[in-house]
Amino acid sequence: MPQYFGQLHTLDPSWSQIEAVKTVEVGDRHLLFNCGNADVKISLLADNLIRVRYSPSGDFLPRRSWAVTVEDQDWQPVQFQTHETETTTEIITEKIKIIIQHNPCRIQCYDLQNNPFAIDGELGFAWRQGLTAVWKKIEPEEHFYGFGERTGFLDKLGEIKTNWTVDSLDYDALTDAMYQAIPVFMALRPELSYGIFLNSTYWSRFDIGVEQPGIWRMETQAPELDYYIIYGPEPAQILNTYTQLTGRMPLPPRWALGYHQCRWSYESEIVVQEIAKEFRNRKIPCDVIHLDIDYMQGYRVFTWNEKRFPEPKKLIQNLSENGFKAVTIIDPGVKYEPEGNYAIFDQGLEQDYFVRKPNGQLFHGYVWPDKAVFPDFLNLKVQKWWGECHQTLTDMGISGIWNDMNEPALDDRPFGDKGTKITFPLDSLQGPPEERATHAETHNLYGLMMSKSSAEALLKLRPKERSFVLTRSGYAGIQRWSSVWMGDNHSIWEHLETSLPMLCNMGLSGVAFVGCDIGGFAGNATAELFARWMQLGILYPLMRGHSALSTAQHEPWVFGERVECICRDYLELRYRLLPYLYTLFWEATQTGSPILRPLFYHYPNDSKTYSLSDQVLLGSAILAAPIYRPGVECRAVYLPKGIWYDWWTKEPYSGSQYILAEAPLERMPLYVKAGSIIPLQPVMQYVDEKPIDSLTFKVFPGTGEGILYEDDGHSFEYIQGIYSTTKYQVSQENQALIIEIEPRQGQWTPPDREIIIDVVGVGEQRFQDDGQGKILRFS
Ligand code: GLC
Repeated sequence: MPQYFGQLHTLDPSWSQIEAVKTVEVGDRHLLFNCGNADVKISLLADNLIRVRYSPSGDFLPRRSWAVTVEDQDWQPVQFQTHETETTTEIITEKIKIIIQHNPCRIQCYDLQNNPFAIDGELGFAWRQGLTAVWKKIEPEEHFYGFGERTGFLDKLGEIKTNWTVDSLDYDALTDAMYQAIPVFMALRPELSYGIFLNSTYWSRFDIGVEQPGIWRMETQAPELDYYIIYGPEPAQILNTYTQLTGRMPLPPRWALGYHQCRWSYESEIVVQEIAKEFRNRKIPCDVIHLDIDYMQGYRVFTWNEKRFPEPKKLIQNLSENGFKAVTIIDPGVKYEPEGNYAIFDQGLEQDYFVRKPNGQLFHGYVWPDKAVFPDFLNLKVQKWWGECHQTLTDMGISGIWNDMNEPALDDRPFGDKGTKITFPLDSLQGPPEERATHAETHNLYGLMMSKSSAEALLKLRPKERSFVLTRSGYAGIQRWSSVWMGDNHSIWEHLETSLPMLCNMGLSGVAFVGCDIGGFAGNATAELFARWMQLGILYPLMRGHSALSTAQHEPWVFGERVECICRDYLELRYRLLPYLYTLFWEATQTGSPILRPLFYHYPNDSKTYSLSDQVLLGSAILAAPIYRPGVECRAVYLPKGIWYDWWTKEPYSGSQYILAEAPLERMPLYVKAGSIIPLQPVMQYVDEKPIDSLTFKVFPGTGEGILYEDDGHSFEYIQGIYSTTKYQVSQENQALIIEIEPRQGQWTPPDREIIIDVVGVGEQRFQDDGQGKILRFS
């Protein structure tokens, strides 16, 4: 982060506090409070959603469309009432009450039982040169989650979180700013949770009880403080509303849920072919191979290295015949090559598409190709041009793009010369002529806009097939354009452990399609670490193995037979779970729900779940308690209320208690909630290997219901309604277990298949699937 941001002294008298409310104007959905020079505007957008804007100067910034997808006026009208007294203005919706105290101006929120939340503290709104801020109370028992990409444990109470995208190489539990900057969080206590989205692309920071215990503060370098308060009361509702605001992920191709193999780099066609062959020979499922920077000619984006990859089209064709998709990396840095040998540089220069310094000179920095220039992705024309450049890759047959180094990451001198990380000058202007904005305002958007460019290009270039996009950097709303991985982790146990809370907090920030490099990127995994990582990796929504240059190989077979078997078994389990997983992805597209969830997501009133960083839920039915320490072969597992079945032994356990789970190297403790049905398919070597000719509904006795989503898995026909959903229920009647599979709804017809109802500990019934559903009795 640039030095000048420095440490902030918030109690410093240079802060100017907001004055008392002088006048109140009530509009259709807005209330405007004039407080002398400053104005506060409260907009009612939904029963559980308000937008608060505080402008110290009384001028509100023009609306930017970068992250929020729904303009204030486009929300459905909200029913609300206002009551005005001498000292307060009250606003009541069907879900919440907001009280604006007039002197001094303070905002307080309550649920309809009068439980307070997001209450301004003794200090409320304030500003000083270059910063606007607000202070709010932390309620007793409140815990804090989300904040985008964060290291450490799940709960961020007592931490400071900066929102400024950086190349956070060598991160650890104390690292603050990361690759992603997503200024959103949720506060949770029994019976009540609420979310805050700070709608600022500028540098911003949350201080959760550090400066002053019992108070959280947010501040931004934007000239105005603009934030949304989202009332739950449950986390799922917060995410639903937050993703209405910032958008939801599109449905990825089903193959993107398979295993991805990557390395920096599989350096030639021959090596790539060998890797692919090895997977198939050893019968280890895998769907995707990523090509890292060495496929390029001297790290020139949108070129191929003719020596290493002389026939990329043939290579990719060959991979495709063997069931592999290819994904290529793209970096934003364009090699500075004014000699006229490199079309991308020439075109960008000619069209004036690269970022310039405030004095008008071309800005350059150093990345893989040494001296490089950087496209101004904020400009729609640049996005389009860059998108079109992807054709050199799609023509070769690639199925996805991996966007890297887009914080942006660059040095002030050639890589290897111990340079300093820099960014574009903060006062350099970016964006189209009609909407120029400083880099200070738009820095956090660089990765988002680059990903948007790729995603939109792939839609055009591969109009019939869904594509895959992966990015390292992003901002709020990145889920609309791309999946995200957590950058350069290390082959250490601590990074295995932290991957779960990291991914859970990303999910709680609206980004469901996330993963970490399995095995660790930097360093060398031991066999044991790799085995444990692969087990845990089947829970990652994005399951990709990756490792750095000059580290030991990290493919599933390099650690000996025992680990190879473990990898195969767990990958097979991942592939068997695909119908369940794909349904979770679909749910994420519909409601913004995470795929990988902390336990409190479904048990928000159970405070024992609040600090559980080492257990997760995959959807609502599967609970995993992975091993993340060497030499450990058993562990404590907290089971929330209800009955839980051990996946391996099928033994039922009562919840609301800790149990001790056996976990020899071959076993990651897994549990399924009673009353769940887990849809399973046969093992495949790759997702589309063959039609799914049997579908097993694994039933865990109890009471519950679920849904299965299906479509062709790769085209866009589902958008025209060519998909199906099947609802199912489990219930108990006296001694019998009743399983009802409802008739399949929707226009998609699966291939002929047998349905196997496998009731754990009871028995099995089979029938041919005619889409009509069935009611089965087991006693
Ligand atoms: C960055 C990426 C890493 C990639 C490497 C080379 O470090 O985070 O995943 O392998 O660059 O492209």
